[in-house]
Order: sequence, then structure tokens, then C-alpha cells
Amino acid sequence: MAAVWQTVTEAINNYTGLSPTAFFTILALMYVTFKVVSGMFVAADDYAAVKRANEIALREPVQMGDVTEEDLRAYDGSDPNKPLLMAIKGQIYDVSRSRMFYGPGGPYALFAGRDASRALALMSFDPKDLTGNIQGLSDSELEVLQDWEYKFIEKYVKVGQLFSLESKQTENVGDASKLDEDKSQENKSEGNETQQ
Ligand code: HEM
Repeated sequence: MAAVWQTVTEAINNYTGLSPTAFFTILALMYVTFKVVSGMFVAADDYAAVKRANEIALREPVQMGDVTEEDLRAYDGSDPNKPLLMAIKGQIYDVSRSRMFYGPGGPYALFAGRDASRALALMSFDPKDLTGNIQGLSDSELEVLQDWEYKFIEKYVKVGQLFSLESKQTENVGDASKLDEDKSQENKSEGNETQQ
């Protein structure tokens, strides 16, 4: 083994005039440079996927109307052809433009396709808090949630609402997005509730 190493280092020295240490340092630097530079480009295969994801992100949000929690799960980013949706207090927002936050691998991917009210109010990533049930929260926690709701109303398009027992519980605790809606919409949803 030592003989092989000696032959190699002699060959390096003969051919390059460099000491083995200098040679391997240069080699390592070239490798790092290659990795950094190639990381700035997207592989041809990935390019189509990135382009498609961008196109979907730029699509006009589609209104969904009333959606069950189960249906909402399908919009968690696992299907790149579907928009990314997320709900706060039972109101569903199209968050496709923030795919880097909510898309697969994103820091907040766990919120996608769900009503994340409780998690946002508690600033929690605990899966047990991934629910629209906000019962038992303190005033300050509800205030945190309210701030998130305002942020979402400002930034994203509302595309529907959840209808489930849980969303009804949250709707009762003051829903700021309702302020924008007209009376007839409110009467309609009240009508729906009495029917059930
Ligand atoms: C170490 C703690 C955290 C750091 C450093 C952090 C950092 C950030 C940053 C830099 C942004 C981007 C802001 C923007 O450009 O608008 C962001 C967005 C966000 N953060 Fe955090 N965050 C942290 C914890 C949390 C926690 C605990 C939650 C909730 C459980 C949370 C939920 C969110 C959400 C939902 C967004 C995206 C809002 C949007 O759609 O615009 N973050 N965070």
C-alpha cells in the first residue's frame, strides 16, 4: 500500500510539479467550486417540474365553495397540478404563490391542505395542534391567530370555506374575513346550518 502511495505521489510531482498536499488541496477546491456552480443551475429534468410548479403558482385561484376537511387534504402540494390550499378559522386560502413555504419540503408544508388555526395560535408544529378546533385557547393566543388571519386575508385569495363540526366551532369565535362578505352570503350559510 505504501509503495502504491509513493508511486502516486511521485507521479503527481513529476507530472504537475506540485507537492501531493498542494495537488489534493487544488483538487478539493475544484470539486467544491464545481458543486457550488452546478447547484446554481437546475437539471434539465427538474426544469420542467419547476416551470410547471411556477405556472400553477401563477394561475388564477379557483373558487371552491364549501369543502370538507377530507377534500382539503388533497391540496397539500403532493399533486403538483393542484393548487396549494390552507385554512384558518374554516376559511380556505390559495397559498400556491408561497410554494416555498407550504409546498413539499417547505418549512410550513405540514399546514398545507389543513385548517392550521390551533397550530398558528399556539405557534406550534406539534401534529396534534393541526386542527381548526380553537376551543380552550387564551385571549392572547386568539389574538395571535387573529393576526395570522389578517395576514392571510391581505396576502392570499380566499377560495372557499370548510364545512365540518370543527369549522363551525371556530366560526363562532369571530371570523374577520366575514366582514368582507355581504349579508346574503351570511343568510345563506345560516340557512345551511339550520338544515343540518
Ligand atoms: C425559529 C422560529 C421561526 C423563524 C426563524 C421563522 C421565520 C420565518 C420567516 C423568515 C418567514 C418569512 C416571512 C415573510 O417573508 O413573509 C416565516 C413565515 C412564516 N412562518 Fe415562521 N418562523 C419561525 C417559527 C414559526 C412558527 C413556530 C410558526 C407557526 C407554528 C411559523 C409560521 C409561519 C408561517 C405560516 C409563515 C408564512 C406566512 C406567509 O404565508 O406569508 N413560523 N417564518
